[in-house]
Amino acid sequence: MLPRNPHFDDARVVWSDEYAGLYAPVAYDEQFDDQWRLFLERKTGFCDHTGVETSDEYIDDRIAELTGVSNVLYRRKWGMFASLMSRLSGRSDRQERRGVGGRLWLEPKFAIDFFQGKRCLDAGCGAGRWTKTLQSLGANMKSIDVSTHGLASTRRFNEDVSKCSIFDIPNRGDLHRAFDFTLCWGVVMCTHDPQAAFNAVASTVKTGGSLYLMVYAPTYHTSPQVLEWRARYHRECRTFEERLAFAYSIADRPENAINLLDMLNTFYNWTIPLAVCAEWFRAAGFGDVVLLNQNEPHACGLHMLGTKR
Ligand SMILES: C[S@@+](CC[C@H](N)C(=O)[O-])C[C@H]1O[C@@H](n2cnc3c(N)ncnc32)[C@H](O)[C@@H]1O
Repeated sequence: MLPRNPHFDDARVVWSDEYAGLYAPVAYDEQFDDQWRLFLERKTGFCDHTGVETSDEYIDDRIAELTGVSNVLYRRKWGMFASLMSRLSGRSDRQERRGVGGRLWLEPKFAIDFFQGKRCLDAGCGAGRWTKTLQSLGANMKSIDVSTHGLASTRRFNEDVSKCSIFDIPNRGDLHRAFDFTLCWGVVMCTHDPQAAFNAVASTVKTGGSLYLMVYAPTYHTSPQVLEWRARYHRECRTFEERLAFAYSIADRPENAINLLDMLNTFYNWTIPLAVCAEWFRAAGFGDVVLLNQNEPHACGLHMLGTKR
């Protein structure tokens, strides 16, 4: 028996803090786990995608999105031969292919040495693309998630991984105010209580440290079609194989299946108004809060950064 779902039982897709306490937690450790397993197995549609890929070529794209500096890892590897090798290997021609899944528009960018030597937390690290990105920029990373395969993927490049739900952070004294920078990308809005999830994640940041939050905005695709797909996925598909077949059947192209599964697989998929996020940051003691993607056309997410006072 499924718990009550706000989206397809109550026609609520935009989160309001008044909903706190109304909905029940679900098995968060299962929701993404098969997706990350298929990534590790290099299944079509689950790798070579901006939303998951951790190979150096993709991490260079993530570094460029954060800092504006291109080909950092590639230039580290090839030095003065980097542009020649880029042309010979067809790397630049793969640029468009690597854009499947979209690119970030962040402004202002982080300085290239911003993360150097900082203790950083990737909360809900998934397969580890942001862990590897910040680590490549000199951060000392800790990565937490509830997905066994997500952690197995992240452990390939970071030893400091821990199975931990963000809702258990209040019981983890070692995480409290322990980080110069916490990144929580695409996690809190996929829970029964995004405000409580935010507060738990915010508590990990030291005074003077920063929190980067990415959540879906009310401009995210929550059309009747998407709600119907989500209801079918959760109510009618019994096994993961059925769910996967359904995701492939509605994907525009097989290479994009992970985007569809991302949209379908979480039982909760709230969109969060900017003012609600801004109030969460304020109430948790953060100042200088900026919306990093305000210039992004058709943005479906909010990328927010705040500094703890
Ligand atoms: C959309 S994915 C994003 C992964 C990663 N942040 C990224 O941007 O690539 C959401 C991740 O949050 C994790 N997650 C979901 N609920 C969680 C919870 N309660 N505590 C910790 N992690 C959670 C999932 O297992 C999944 O790996």
